[in-house]
Amino acid sequence: MNEAEKYAVQWDISAQYFYEKSYYSWMSEKLNGYEMVLEIGCGTGYSTLALAEKGFKVLAVDKNANCIVKAKELLNSSGFKDNQVTFIEGDVAEDSFRKMLVENYSFDIVICWNVGTYWGKEMIQYYLPHMYEYGLNTDQIKENPESSYSELIIWETCRIARTKNVPVHIVDRGGEILTEQTDPYYVMLKDEFGYPKILYDNLQADSISSGGRVLVTNGEVNIDKKIDIVFVSIVMC
Ligand SMILES: C[S@@+](CC[C@H](N)C(=O)[O-])C[C@H]1O[C@@H](n2cnc3c(N)ncnc32)[C@H](O)[C@@H]1O
Repeated sequence: MNEAEKYAVQWDISAQYFYEKSYYSWMSEKLNGYEMVLEIGCGTGYSTLALAEKGFKVLAVDKNANCIVKAKELLNSSGFKDNQVTFIEGDVAEDSFRKMLVENYSFDIVICWNVGTYWGKEMIQYYLPHMYEYGLNTDQIKENPESSYSELIIWETCRIARTKNVPVHIVDRGGEILTEQTDPYYVMLKDEFGYPKILYDNLQADSISSGGRVLVTNGEVNIDKKIDIVFVSIVMC
């Protein structure tokens, strides 16, 4: 199995757990009032399923073809049809892909929940020019490549949303509660993209994975090894 396939298998287990605990349902409730959602990084589709169940129309984007295959299977087997959910494979760090999305599709809000991906040396090399364009320097990227990448994708999400003049919803999973007073990062993004408002909500939760990798003991998913996390919901509008 290559890294992209392994990632899809692992994330699927974590995401199913989040779905069963209704965490995606909590996230979806932040979108009440919108109709068409552009989901950046749909993974294996459990988040997309929660959105479809709440009645949203979804344009679900992911760069990992293995994730898209699983997500399509999940939505089809749950009875959702192409007229409610459309899947698009592509990388939002690529200018041409973002341009295609903005020119060819309409949406009322752009979301990016739990951004992440598998990681390797070639990945850093590939995304380096994009991270420089975003504004990071080599030291910052070396110090924490994964969070540099996450910041890049969140920034690209905001760029898409701003081009269409629609709000953006980010869900971050971390260890601490965030508010407008304790969080300089999203407040800075809100100002950079000229959104007048930023709304926070936090959910104390747990996870059977860390950094997208399921916690495994002796080759078995270890449900006793759950870790406490906080889902932070940030709406810029
Ligand atoms: C951790 S999963 C989260 C999936 C889903 N949002 C959820 O909460 O279950 C992140 C997904 O984002 C996708 N992704 C990462 N970088 C991306 C990019 N540059 N363009 C499109 N999708 C990306 C990954 O392939 C992965 O499936």
